[in-house]
Amino acid sequence: MKTVIYYFSATGNSLKTAAIISQKLGAEMLPMVKYKGTICTADKIGLVFPTYFWGVPRTVGEFIDKLRVSRDSPYIFAVPTYGELHGGVLGQVDRLLAKKDLKLDYGREIKAVANFVEEYNPRIHLAGKRLKEAARLAELAASEIAAGISNSPFRYSAADKLFYKIYTDIKVNHDQEFHVDDTCIQCGICQNICPNHNIILKNGALEFQHQCEHCVACINCCPQKAIQWKSATQKRNRYKHPDVTVREIISGMQ
Ligand SMILES: Cc1cc2nc3c(=O)[nH]c(=O)nc-3n(C[C@H](O)[C@H](O)[C@H](O)COP(=O)(O)O)c2cc1C
Ligand code: SF4
Ligand code: SF4
Repeated sequence: MKTVIYYFSATGNSLKTAAIISQKLGAEMLPMVKYKGTICTADKIGLVFPTYFWGVPRTVGEFIDKLRVSRDSPYIFAVPTYGELHGGVLGQVDRLLAKKDLKLDYGREIKAVANFVEEYNPRIHLAGKRLKEAARLAELAASEIAAGISNSPFRYSAADKLFYKIYTDIKVNHDQEFHVDDTCIQCGICQNICPNHNIILKNGALEFQHQCEHCVACINCCPQKAIQWKSATQKRNRYKHPDVTVREIISGMQ
């Protein structure tokens, strides 16, 4: 039985979760950014990614939209990570799959550390306890997936839909409020980590291309904490999963 897990991760929570589940299932782990439009031949297909506004990141929506499968009715599971409230993210995934005549068989949301530094100060002091529990839940999800458990249906309410509209209407592609401090050392990490090629380092300056999905990988992984959003982030923490390297995150983005 072949299992493939497609993942998307900006600060490592989902990458770590995907790695735990893949290892336990003996699954292949592939980044969604590189595999948009893939024809998947697996019997079990996994989707692991962060929750954005109780829904999916743009990359994940596009990945599902373009996904093609070679088998009839493969077993599909989704494991979204989140910070505080997951809303109807699994219900949204099920709806996106339904448009392709597919369905979500199993889902489990996993609480990790909230990384949306544009909007709040990431609570890095919670990381130790939260990530230990997240790893335990990832193991549990892997056992349930191995057993072929189905826990559908998944709800998706009008409130979920409305909240997600803030993401698509107000956040996506609106990157005019990014700016860079003079502490930037032009290392190129932000350019390489962006899943949308939204950052171009040119003549010693960063240019933003208005193709942003607000994954916040660039802000959180800049070694100089030089990327700012409005005047909100100067004094805030930066967050990345401690077991995941910036290099590993970049390899899932290019
Ligand atoms: C644009 C954006 C929106 C987010 N929205 C939510 C949300 O609605 N609910 C929540 O609990 N966490 C939310 N988060 C936090 C992430 O879901 C959480 O930190 C996730 O584990 C990050 O995964 P990653 O490290 O794999 O990127 C949001 C983060 C970002 C960047
Ligand atoms: S990651 Fe930070 S230091 Fe490196 S080029 Fe980007 S802004 Fe500059
Ligand atoms: S510019 Fe930054 S926040 Fe926007 S998509 Fe790229 S890495 Fe993510």
